[in-house]
Amino acid sequence: MHHERIAILDYGSQYTRLITRRLRELGAFGLVYPPGATAEEIGGGDLRGVILSGGPNSVLEDGAPGIDPKIFELGVPVLGICYGQQLMARDFGGELHRSTQREYGKATIRCQGQDSVLFAGMAGEQVVWMSHGDHVEKAPEGYAVTASTSTVPVAAMENRSLRRYGIQFHPEVTHSVNGSALLLNFLEHCGMALDWNAGHFIEEKVRQIRTQVGSGRVVLGLSGGVDSSVAALLLHRAIGKQLTCVFVDHGLMRKNEMKQVQAYFAPFDLRVVCVDASDEFLDKLEGVTDPETKRKLIGSTFIDVFDREAKKIAADFLGQGTTYPDVIESSGIGGAVLVKSHHNVGGLPERMKLKLVEPLRELFKDEVRKAGLALGLPEDMNQRHPFPGPGLAVRLPGAITRERVRILQEADAIFLEELKTSGWYAKTSQAFAVLLPVQTVGIMGDERTFEFMCALRAVTSEDFMTADWARLPHELLDRIAQRIVREVKGINRVVFDITSKPPATIEYE
Ligand code: XMP
Repeated sequence: MHHERIAILDYGSQYTRLITRRLRELGAFGLVYPPGATAEEIGGGDLRGVILSGGPNSVLEDGAPGIDPKIFELGVPVLGICYGQQLMARDFGGELHRSTQREYGKATIRCQGQDSVLFAGMAGEQVVWMSHGDHVEKAPEGYAVTASTSTVPVAAMENRSLRRYGIQFHPEVTHSVNGSALLLNFLEHCGMALDWNAGHFIEEKVRQIRTQVGSGRVVLGLSGGVDSSVAALLLHRAIGKQLTCVFVDHGLMRKNEMKQVQAYFAPFDLRVVCVDASDEFLDKLEGVTDPETKRKLIGSTFIDVFDREAKKIAADFLGQGTTYPDVIESSGIGGAVLVKSHHNVGGLPERMKLKLVEPLRELFKDEVRKAGLALGLPEDMNQRHPFPGPGLAVRLPGAITRERVRILQEADAIFLEELKTSGWYAKTSQAFAVLLPVQTVGIMGDERTFEFMCALRAVTSEDFMTADWARLPHELLDRIAQRIVREVKGINRVVFDITSKPPATIEYE
């Protein structure tokens, strides 16, 4: 089955993937192509429209990426955004204003075209998001100027008979208040059916995975998190028994984690190899206190164990649940800084000489969850908080010992259980217990105690780059503290962390 599609030519803007995301939200499927794609490559019976993205270059520079003129003869509407609009202005005889300074941030445009296609249903002034150097000074002949600002005379232009449209601002960024409405106007103008959904995404991916993998074998590291679980189910849907999942228990998992993961996947007929490597990890970690050393040790041991298991499977491909935010984070796109060494993606593919299959690469987190639901992933699994690759190691400041791991697992399990029964788990983005390397005096019955202190962390966050502490009710905190001190041998004091990120991080190491 082929689905009708918008082709997006990517001129390098950091927002290109947001365009595809907005289209999906509106029920349309958009496929991203490199800037040099030809009309032949993007054309075809199911093409309904073309979007030219923004980009960091100036169209006036030598060697600036251009556009195959035959794309304008494909008979579908074309929308140029920022760089895309400037490219159209350049190639069709408009005038450009060259600027070395970038205008960046919110701007107010005045819509002028009464019967504009893009601004249908919108009147007067609109707040939009701008990010550009050059701008179009004069629209090409035959193009009506449909919006402007005090500094940008051609903030939008259109040629209705040729069905070509240009805008200087970024409708895909949420700061552009009517951005989605504008994109919807364009999609309707293209005649899109707007029926794209998670089910279609799955069909499309299943087809792609089959083409890529053929009769090869895929091994996937199943962590029990949402991303790797959804990737596993999607690959399983596509290639069935050609997929083997490997779950490595490094001994720093939450309480009963391996059993839980097995139970979640039992109904799916998925091949899951569970490896209990906790002794191997904990032996190496014995006495290690430095946070980065812990992470590196866990990372390299994980690769050893996983590699050993994968060799038994003789896999040709490594499946990974990489999502779009991971892609940004590991490449530093959009100014993301690598604060801590993440072991999840690094090292494994190179070492194993396997080709990658990453079916979730263009999805955002909430979209991964939608795909998970459509694939039948149980609701509570689908709504799980993220759990760091190095596990409880980063929640055990100081020395890691088997006893301290056990104490933390018990306290954490009580915390999570109480959050779930009170309905607060779903209202927080991440919550966990931390075992501090501090012993304090207490009194239990007639006896004086000298035991560890437990910190509870619960945060709300959009993207985990910033976070606020969750305002848990005092009665709930009281119940949790009482239970932990009563039920967990080794803890006699509980504190609740009220620091936001920044300045603190979410994890303790
Ligand atoms: P921080 O502590 O940096 O955490 O505020 C932000 C988010 O990243 C997770 N995190 C990790 N995830 N490997 C992971 O897979 C790691 O080494 C790691 N360190 C932090 C953390 O749980 C939070 O969601």
